[in-house]
Amino acid sequence: MSLDIRACNAAQLPMDLLLEADPHLPYVQAYLADGHCYLAERDGVVVGVYVLQARSHATLELMNIAVDPSCQAQGIGTQLLQHALYSAKQLGATRLEVATGSFGHQLTFYQRAGLRVYAVEPDYFLQHYPEPLFEQGLQHKDRLRLAIDLN
Ligand SMILES: CC(C)(COP(=O)(O)OP(=O)(O)OC[C@H]1O[C@@H](n2cnc3c(N)ncnc32)[C@H](O)[C@@H]1OP(=O)(O)O)[C@@H](O)C(=O)NCCC(=O)NCCS
Repeated sequence: MSLDIRACNAAQLPMDLLLEADPHLPYVQAYLADGHCYLAERDGVVVGVYVLQARSHATLELMNIAVDPSCQAQGIGTQLLQHALYSAKQLGATRLEVATGSFGHQLTFYQRAGLRVYAVEPDYFLQHYPEPLFEQGLQHKDRLRLAIDLN
């Protein structure tokens, strides 16, 4: 079963999937408005999404990446992330950034692809999200910013 990853309109991205990565709807709607949107289809069914947004003329940020829960841990996320690196280069960026929680498999996922931590935002999730975010029984408080040089 091959995966078809392609650029699309924001309206084509399933909101429930976007909210898997970022549970605060207003944030998601804000970056969908001017983001570069991509989806992954397998057998005609959307199984993954990602969104890039410009931070400066040479830097793009991966604002959202998500794989349908029933299809996770099958390598789709890794293919999406590699595609995001490729797309960012195609869009003229020399740096890709991403922000994520300070623990969990997402952090390993990004680091395995070569992204490195360059900043810590203490209390970010406490200050910017209306609902507490828990994973593996632990509350997300601090946010890490990671980046990779695309040259
Ligand atoms: C992060 C995410 C996109 C990874 O997608 P995926 O298709 O599961 O990723 P892959 O199959 O390529 O797996 C990458 C690694 O993560 C591991 N992994 C994936 N899901 C996992 C989970 N729920 N718990 C623990 N490890 C997990 C895989 O086992 C794999 O590790 P391995 O190479 O050592 O086997 C996916 O888990 C997801 O959509 N999560 C919810 C949304 C989210 O958190 N997005 C990121 C926001 S910062």
